[in-house]
Amino acid sequence: MTQIRDDFRSDTVTRPSAGMRRAMAEAEVGDDVFGDDPTVQRLEAAVAERLGKAAGVFMTSGTQSNLLALLAHCGRGDGYIAGMEAHCYAHEQGGAAWIGSLQPQPVPHQPDGTLALADIEAAIGDDDPHVATTRLVALENTFHGKVMPQVWIGEATALARAHGLATHLDGARVFNAAVAGNIDVAEIARPFDTVSVCLSKGLGAPIGSVLVGEAALLAKARRLRKALGGGLRQVGILAAAGLYALEHNVERLADDHANARRLAEGLARIPDLAVTPPDTNIVWVSVAPARSKAFSDFLGAEGFGVTGGYGKTQQRWVTHLDVDSAAIDRAIAAAERFFSA
Ligand SMILES: Cc1ncc(COP(=O)(O)O)c(C=O)c1O
Repeated sequence: MTQIRDDFRSDTVTRPSAGMRRAMAEAEVGDDVFGDDPTVQRLEAAVAERLGKAAGVFMTSGTQSNLLALLAHCGRGDGYIAGMEAHCYAHEQGGAAWIGSLQPQPVPHQPDGTLALADIEAAIGDDDPHVATTRLVALENTFHGKVMPQVWIGEATALARAHGLATHLDGARVFNAAVAGNIDVAEIARPFDTVSVCLSKGLGAPIGSVLVGEAALLAKARRLRKALGGGLRQVGILAAAGLYALEHNVERLADDHANARRLAEGLARIPDLAVTPPDTNIVWVSVAPARSKAFSDFLGAEGFGVTGGYGKTQQRWVTHLDVDSAAIDRAIAAAERFFSA
């Protein structure tokens, strides 16, 4: 198999920079289950403050963070509303159902990724004994790389509150949304009770997410995290990477977005490709079915990592810290070479 040189599969593939590794090596640590790790505490406080929330809990992954948010908000048999393609419903093995005994109440997405308010309202289970009692509405921003409209977020969370429901944001890439929308990330977070933020995607840390929200709920999530085997010990080493990422890698997400736009513009010039203009760092490309597999094979042989293909006609190209402007040039040139042959 050809080695991947230009890895567009995901923004999770970044490797920690020399500066980040130095920060990790020098981190002050302690046993975090005893509450003794000062670097973890600094990270939790820093993310909470940045998002305008009272408290944070360091999690090993976005999946763990979403799951613990859902479990902290809901009890066994309760329902949570999420998009049919939301990560916390469709791409986390249904953990909330089989680990937490929660009842998902999925709602279809509109073409722009939002959920229709009428659909959310119709999915809310209340006193009817035939249906699960809804406790939570979970939204996602960015969703498939799209920045969700602030007005819609305001309306959807207000609707949830009007029905006495809690709200959670899967903000795995919420900093991408903030940078692309030129809006304070705390403004995006404001209407939500909890927000999960990933450090190991565009921010370039090797691991970690932080769940933020109100203190008592976060204390519950921290307790549940231990039951799931997520009690962490001297993980200041990992939290230091997160702190470094917050300090150095947020504003530069604009570079990833610019690279994604340039990649999209280059690929869109090829008649066999239909490209959705990206809001952030994820470019969706539909390949003419007759050329799809051959194009994927070609890209693989040329050292490009791209998600999709092999029978499927849609590809996902993700830009990040470790694909620079030269990688964008190489990708566009390779695609032009393939389709002009
Ligand atoms: C929107 C979203 N939420 C949550 C996750 C889960 O993160 P992790 O892979 O760290 O479990 C991902 C992962 O790609 C994601 O894209």
